[in-house]
Amino acid sequence: MNTFLAEKITDIRRQRGSDLAILAHHYQHDDVVAHADILGDSLELSRKISSLAARDIVFCGVFFMAETAAMLAKPGQRIHIPARDAACVMSEMAPAALVETVLARLEAAGKHVLPLTYVNSSAAVKAVVGARGGAVCTSANAGKMLRWALDQGRGVLFLPDKMLGQNTCDALGVSPERRHILDVRSNGARIDFSAAMAAEVLLWPGQCVIHARFKARDIEAVRQKNPAAKVVVHPECSPETVKAADAAGSTSFIIKYVAEAPAGADIVIGTEINLVRRLANKYRGEKTVRPLCLSACSNMGKGTEENLLATLVGLDTAEPVTVPEAVRAPATAAVTRMLEVSA
Ligand code: 13P
Ligand code: SF4
Repeated sequence: MNTFLAEKITDIRRQRGSDLAILAHHYQHDDVVAHADILGDSLELSRKISSLAARDIVFCGVFFMAETAAMLAKPGQRIHIPARDAACVMSEMAPAALVETVLARLEAAGKHVLPLTYVNSSAAVKAVVGARGGAVCTSANAGKMLRWALDQGRGVLFLPDKMLGQNTCDALGVSPERRHILDVRSNGARIDFSAAMAAEVLLWPGQCVIHARFKARDIEAVRQKNPAAKVVVHPECSPETVKAADAAGSTSFIIKYVAEAPAGADIVIGTEINLVRRLANKYRGEKTVRPLCLSACSNMGKGTEENLLATLVGLDTAEPVTVPEAVRAPATAAVTRMLEVSA
């Protein structure tokens, strides 16, 4: 932490009082987290927005998170993000125009699936989903949301994360024979329609490159060295990795898992390194917390004390994060459906 920057940030926070709220995702650097009023996972942070009275809300995370906050903000509230170029690589694997085309191709073939998008997607994708009666989910409620989507009886397109989709199917008992990973290349021209028609859950072929690094063989190596070690991973990891682990869940689940582990436990974590390091420091001397391998989200890392301070200095003049009007209503409907179903 830079003392000079930290003091300036603290001064502005003091001056602004309750007119300012700083939210941070668990993957942000400690330097940024130190200034957060609220720290949380994707679901917790989106749930908080409607309860905030602050005029200015600074969202330290990646862009889709700030965009989701902008949808849920009240009139007059302004959402800011310190690193506007902090994209989520996975969300970029599902461009809205391609999602629309793929859904239209499926519909033309008679497959009218309900789309369910992971919150790690653009507002434009959420709008495509919301316009078809679909919803959003996060890693913390994917099971509940996929159950709800399946209960609508039309079959489901889960996007953009094929890993979270498969892991959630596994948890709900939707066998591999009942699901199909779409080939969306060539603008959807390569879709295998007979496989798609037969499947109950269609999966978009996106994934998180940061979580793809955690392999089942790494877990086997951990167990060989220390059979007593517990391994917990994020459900964006592959199904093989999740099956090899002792537990899998959202960032908040991982935090709780470590908190509830007995003193002396050796816990190995498969998720973004900033969170693993924070937990390792917090429990040093009491429990051992270590990474399955070192994997950093460079986009999350774009949030720094420097750009947080620059954002705070420019609060009154900066262009807040907004969502185009045509996108806002259907995208918000998809997010609101999630908040209602998973309440
Ligand atoms: P959580 O919803 O678990 O906070 O995860 C968000 C994310 O981007 C994980 O890579
Ligand atoms: Fe996106 Fe992966 Fe980074 Fe999470 S860790 S924000 S899913 S790229």
